[in-house]
Amino acid sequence: MANMRRIGILTSGGDTPGMNAAIRAVFKMGSYLGMNVMGIFHGYVGLMSGNIRQLTDRDCEAIIHKGGTILRTARSEEFRTEEGIQQAIKVIDAYQIEGVVVIGGDGSYNGAKFLSSKGVPVVCLPGTIDNDLGYSDYTIGFDTAANSVMNEIYKIRDTMRSHDRVGAIEVMGRACGDIALHAGVAGGADYILVPEETPDGYEEACDRLVAQKLQGQVSSIVLIAEGAGGAEGFCQYVSAKTNIDIRPIVLGYIQRGGQPSVFDRVNATCMGTRAVELLDDGIINRAVGLRNNEVYDLDLTEALETPKRFNKRLYDINNIMSLF
Ligand code: F6P
Repeated sequence: MANMRRIGILTSGGDTPGMNAAIRAVFKMGSYLGMNVMGIFHGYVGLMSGNIRQLTDRDCEAIIHKGGTILRTARSEEFRTEEGIQQAIKVIDAYQIEGVVVIGGDGSYNGAKFLSSKGVPVVCLPGTIDNDLGYSDYTIGFDTAANSVMNEIYKIRDTMRSHDRVGAIEVMGRACGDIALHAGVAGGADYILVPEETPDGYEEACDRLVAQKLQGQVSSIVLIAEGAGGAEGFCQYVSAKTNIDIRPIVLGYIQRGGQPSVFDRVNATCMGTRAVELLDDGIINRAVGLRNNEVYDLDLTEALETPKRFNKRLYDINNIMSLF
């Protein structure tokens, strides 16, 4: 018998591949424990406006492989205000929702913390392609996004090599270079620019391209996280300093869409079930994450305060790989 009879679930911030797998897991685990699972649509916006209905088997049928989020998502400034949160609490009371599962990134986690400070039990699941939540080794969607970028690198390299050009590929990641780093290592990038290591790295990257040219390398690929200056600016810099033929490529939203990888589906399923178990056991205001291959949970505030550790070793390894 469930301790909580009715829980809500919402997705917030940028969508990620694997959010649907997590929603499905929450729904199925909730049903298994005898709960009603209420879908809150458009994130905190739907929580304030009451865009809520009970999820059914049919809603969660054949969605594990789908990108995006069936609950839709939004970013909300209004929710951060006292009026916004009071409105959300009225809705939560009206729908008799006893606990809320929030899937999103740090902005969504801060929203959940605000909710919990008003007495609403919450559990958060890490849903962001950026992989920028320090308490979890991987966030839901990151693996798929990195794989999508890796697959684009091959295509871009084909054409760049044919023309003896350099391709400067800009990928997502405002404050976190993990997509650039992992996709870059896996795709054999010749240089990687990330906000953590090379926030002003144009000169160093340009020097490396010149060195690669002098060594006889016909073409290079540079991966640039959006938070490290972007591709357009880098190409202008290189063009002004050298005669290298360089082209900017901004990958954009193709990184956020698409079918989730095996890793993201399994991770989302395990994390989603854990979230419901926690609520059922009355263990609230927690963040579920992955540490050393195991799903775990910790206090939401502690999770938000855990600094993100950049994998410097991996970055250095790529710098050696691209020397020869
Ligand atoms: O959700 C994370 C993210 O994909 C970032 O990498 C990117 O900077 C941002 O979202 C873009 O958000 P939006 O689609 O709202 O402009």
